[in-house]
Amino acid sequence: MALAQKLLVDIHTHVYLPRYAALLRARSAVPRILSAPAGERLLILDHEPSGGRPVGPQYWDREEKIGFMDRHGIDVSVVSSANPWLDFLQPDDAQRLATELNDDLEAYCAQSPSLSGGMKRLYGFGLLPLVPGVPIPALLESVDQISKLPHLKGVILGTRGIGAGLDDPSLSPLWGALSSANLVAFLHPHYGVGDAWGPRDNGHVLPLALGFPFETTAAATRLILSGALDAHPTLKILLAHAGGALPQLSSRLASCIDHDPVVASRLAHDARWYLGKLHFDAVAYGPEELGFVSDVVARSAQFGDKKTAGFGYTVDRKLGSRNMLFGTDHPFFPPLSNTDKWRSVVENLQAIDAVSGWGDAEKDGVRGGNALALFGLA
Ligand code: URA
Ligand code: ZN
Repeated sequence: MALAQKLLVDIHTHVYLPRYAALLRARSAVPRILSAPAGERLLILDHEPSGGRPVGPQYWDREEKIGFMDRHGIDVSVVSSANPWLDFLQPDDAQRLATELNDDLEAYCAQSPSLSGGMKRLYGFGLLPLVPGVPIPALLESVDQISKLPHLKGVILGTRGIGAGLDDPSLSPLWGALSSANLVAFLHPHYGVGDAWGPRDNGHVLPLALGFPFETTAAATRLILSGALDAHPTLKILLAHAGGALPQLSSRLASCIDHDPVVASRLAHDARWYLGKLHFDAVAYGPEELGFVSDVVARSAQFGDKKTAGFGYTVDRKLGSRNMLFGTDHPFFPPLSNTDKWRSVVENLQAIDAVSGWGDAEKDGVRGGNALALFGLA
């Protein structure tokens, strides 16, 4: 077990399974994979900038994933389908593909190599047919399927739910089913928020650096405001990209709620308390950001009720690190030149190592131990 605590575990790493890549190739509208003279291109975002992004076997080939892991010393990956999942499909197609892709992902993981103690190198997050018009029982059937697939440990969720967002009251049975099945819900962006980017071509920088995390911020906030975390206290939510701006805005959120008695009356706790219930990937690229998120997580304990705690407390940054988990976002953000290691990975590892106030135990936890505990792998 002590050895397992030293493993490097990547919980934010994506795949387009071959069946899904074939679907994208067959489409003539975004999302699609387009054949171009210099190789295939991935077009998935609305108003996709700069002719999309290059796409190749690193997106679908398991050997490429393992090779990438080996190059970066990653022992175990918990792999998720990349955006936009099944969002653009009709309910029947979404249900059929969710079932097939969950079976595909189970095989992808089950056939991966094992570590010496028997743990697999690959585990996965399943897909739900989260599209407008899908009956709630179909979502629950999907949860049931995933819970019976031994290498799938959670689900990946976009922010739209079945069309009305994650604060849609009709999703309550889904939160209940995920909690009962002990599956981790990985909340990941795709759409961004609005169109604040102006006419200048800044490539993918604004949608990915700002739009993605703002979208996660809004979706997680709506989930908190819906009371879902009060109604389902064992629900495990993992937020992409270190929770976006939610940690930075959580006191402002608490204050705005305080000034709105109708909204305040729906919640059992101060908004800051809920941050301690959430998990955050460590895909933030900087030690200051990671340290700050761990402070905010640790601080949540001060806000268990709605009485203002005042600010005469100290936070234990070490405690907050337990809700944080290493990730890479592979195969996105590849190096632009032919380097052995990916800067996006190295930077996230260096950031973990450089957080002031975290000791070896906390760093080991964020690198892997926390993931083993959250996903029940060790
Ligand atoms: N770009 C995407 O489209 N998805 C990711 O997960 C990361 C970058
Ligand atoms: Zn991602």
